[in-house]
Amino acid sequence: MNSKSIAKEKFVFKDMVKVENILSNYPDKKSATLPLLHLAQSQDGYITTGAINTIADMVDSHPAIVMDCVSFYTMFYTKPPGRHKVQICQTLSCSLNGADDLVDDVVSKYSIKPGETTEDKKFTLQKVECLGSCDTAPVVQIDNDYYEGLSREKFDELLETLK
Ligand code: FES
Repeated sequence: MNSKSIAKEKFVFKDMVKVENILSNYPDKKSATLPLLHLAQSQDGYITTGAINTIADMVDSHPAIVMDCVSFYTMFYTKPPGRHKVQICQTLSCSLNGADDLVDDVVSKYSIKPGETTEDKKFTLQKVECLGSCDTAPVVQIDNDYYEGLSREKFDELLETLK
């Protein structure tokens, strides 16, 4: 860790072969920032300040710049997320087709706001930008699956089935 580090938390990549492979793919090391963040998150489930410092050192960047990447993309978590990630598209087509109602229903039923996790850690709710399936709005992504043309009732049933 160098003097630019934003905290003294330690982080070590468990698979340095993968790290070296990623770094070797980019002539400019800074371009490896996002793949390394994905690798760090796949290791720990979220991005720690230690991971931010380690990656900044590896790509010759500043931790604040790496943190900018983390805070810009909704797929990165800075604290442990719930067992499922529920992402509701908030862009125009989905918004006009009831996505806001889906968010409101979750907020009132589970007492969480977007960005928060249910007390039982069942899921983390997020509002995200266009998921690229505007013709089937409203669209919700849960983990790696899309659920399209959702009604409030169907969405509620879907959340109930999550373990
Ligand atoms: Fe929601 Fe494009 S606007 S998927």
